[in-house]
Amino acid sequence: MGKKKSKKPVPIKSSSAMKSRTLARKITTKFHQLTSKKHALKESDSEAISRIEEELIELGGRDAYQKASQLNTSIFSTSKWVWGKLSLTGKAFGRKVNASKPKERTPSKVLEIGAINTQLLDFTAKGLCETRAIDINSQSPRIEEANFLSADFEPGAQDAIVCSMVLNCVPNADLRGEMIKKIDRLMNVRGDVFVVVPLLCLTQSPHINKESYETIWKNLGYELREVRVTPKLHMIWGVKGKGGGNGDAAEEGDWRVGKGKMGGRNTFGINFSKDKESGDTKKEKEKEMKKSAKK
Ligand SMILES: C[S@@+](CC[C@H](N)C(=O)[O-])C[C@H]1O[C@@H](n2cnc3c(N)ncnc32)[C@H](O)[C@@H]1O
Repeated sequence: MGKKKSKKPVPIKSSSAMKSRTLARKITTKFHQLTSKKHALKESDSEAISRIEEELIELGGRDAYQKASQLNTSIFSTSKWVWGKLSLTGKAFGRKVNASKPKERTPSKVLEIGAINTQLLDFTAKGLCETRAIDINSQSPRIEEANFLSADFEPGAQDAIVCSMVLNCVPNADLRGEMIKKIDRLMNVRGDVFVVVPLLCLTQSPHINKESYETIWKNLGYELREVRVTPKLHMIWGVKGKGGGNGDAAEEGDWRVGKGKMGGRNTFGINFSKDKESGDTKKEKEKEMKKSAKK
């Protein structure tokens, strides 16, 4: 029998402006693997956690990960796509205040979750939009440093929410379910949701596929105006219906992440726990609270 090929380690340390797509892909994949591994560990596993943290530092941390993601957005601009759709529906130029006076408009509220550049802020500044771009690790003074899951927002007030390549960064299925539910809670009726995930999350995971993922959004009451599938991405543009969802999102989206026992390379899943807070979600929230208490 021939020798098994050993996996080459990811070449670490990125330069300030990343130019290689291969390196960018390796960094983002490794970052996701390490962060998921870290979140699956118990707090008492401090040695294993420290080892993973060291590996993350070696990799260049979240900064290197964001630089790798910036390279991808320079190749495909989600912001340009979003701006095109907002222009098409007229939301780019504000929201009508009074149905009988179409010229009277107030700024449309746009929220970008996980913003690694200011492209959407720049595009929407051309129209009549009040845009808030947030990221847990801000790369620009114009991007607010905030965790979407714990930040405060007015419910039902957003005219558009952009969540591009963020669900796959969220460390577990419970928190992804939380993120989707929160997006929906904040959305105004007729609001636009733009969600992009890597296609592999929906083709390689044993927990979810394209159809079941799209069903989550449909069951929440979104009309899917565009589902775009590229060789790398799955993109949804959905509009929130007046009647809301049919309440089946929980049943339809009840997938769990395998705790390291699944054979597949990708364990992406989304869980809408019926009791609202499952163990993983509680643990995340406790960690979050401890962190903010230390600040
Ligand atoms: C892969 S990058 C995607 C960036 C960009 N939206 C795009 O489409 O390329 C994911 C970003 O989401 C951010 N992020 C992850 N979880 C988040 C959370 N809970 N709240 C805010 N930002 C988050 C990460 O820090 C990272 O900058």
